[in-house]
Amino acid sequence: MKKYNFNEIALRKGTYCVKHDMTPEVFGTDDLLPMWVADMDFKTPDFILEAIRKRCEHEVLGYTFAPDGYKMAVLNWFRERYGIETRWSRMHFIPGIVQGIAFVLQTFTLPGDKVLITTPVYPPFLNVPHRTGRVFVSSPLRTVDGRFTFDFEDLERKAEGCKVMILSNPHNPGGTVWTKEELARVADICLRKGVLVISDEIHADLSYRRSQHTSFTTVSEAAKSNSITFFAPSKTFNMAGIASSICYVPDPEIRKTLFGFLDGNELSLGNIFAYYATEAAFAHGGEWLRQLLIYLQGNIDAAEQYLKEHCPEITFMRPEASFLLWMDFRAWNLPQKELVHKLIYDAKVGLNNGTDFGPEGEGFMRMNIGTNRATVLEGLRRICSVRSK
Ligand SMILES: Cc1ncc(COP(=O)(O)O)c(C=O)c1O
Repeated sequence: MKKYNFNEIALRKGTYCVKHDMTPEVFGTDDLLPMWVADMDFKTPDFILEAIRKRCEHEVLGYTFAPDGYKMAVLNWFRERYGIETRWSRMHFIPGIVQGIAFVLQTFTLPGDKVLITTPVYPPFLNVPHRTGRVFVSSPLRTVDGRFTFDFEDLERKAEGCKVMILSNPHNPGGTVWTKEELARVADICLRKGVLVISDEIHADLSYRRSQHTSFTTVSEAAKSNSITFFAPSKTFNMAGIASSICYVPDPEIRKTLFGFLDGNELSLGNIFAYYATEAAFAHGGEWLRQLLIYLQGNIDAAEQYLKEHCPEITFMRPEASFLLWMDFRAWNLPQKELVHKLIYDAKVGLNNGTDFGPEGEGFMRMNIGTNRATVLEGLRRICSVRSK
């Protein structure tokens, strides 16, 4: 069995990569360790690169529709990983999930309509409704026993009059893997209030206990009949630049409306590399992913240990999925602007600003540990070195 070496990371600077090459634009300086945008510094797995190379051997990159091998690999992955037994006709290729969310808002809502989210959350969940003239209504999450959970009473109140809910399942930035019971309650509230649920499951495969992730449609009939789910191999296999995602809609009416919009807008054909890369990821990615998750968990353990020893007043929500740490800097007692400034210009680390995830992010920052352990520890060393200044 091949052993992958995740201590080895790719030199990404100079490749137009967002994380490394957009730092001047985003942070106002190039002199920092970038630990922000959510992709990883590891090489995209060799079997995916090989599939792309192999397709190039044909020497014609013309219009191409979804190959059977791609569809089969997706359906097998869904069956094995999420317990979803379905057919390709209930799925649709989409380039990106944020785009998919925008498509759903355009299909099922009008400008001025209300969109329900729970904050803090991945910033496009706030920005996409706002930029498309919709109004987001936020139900703040609660922290119980070191993990996020919903405030169901608040959610029930806020759902009133909303058309769509956007759910991060698992959750970014908390890394929370929602339980079946939590999701079933969300599904029940949304069905009763007439709120269509978008379940964004881009982080699903990065759950730390394999069977732990619960795909929204599997929790109840209410969930299945009233939802649109998005999946992608992009986070899991570090291939976000390939722009390959999948939308799954079990309900025939919702499907007809959404797929009608997608096809009507000529969004039916995917891109050739997305198909072959995704097929390779799902057909051959199990072992690579298993080893990746062990490595990432080691990073989380190392980060926890380092902070305990060097800077115990900073803590983070231990992620149940994915490679993002929601770090709590409230003990430093700094206004957010000063905290951000200190981390950029004194510590020289590029983290995501907590308040970009909603007002509940005051005093928090998000750190990406999808890199090698030495880089994780270097980032933490930099942060801890400025703690008491
Ligand atoms: C919850 C969530 N959804 C969507 C995305 C981005 O998806 P895409 O690049 O397919 O638009 C991210 C990336 O960080 C994410 O965390």
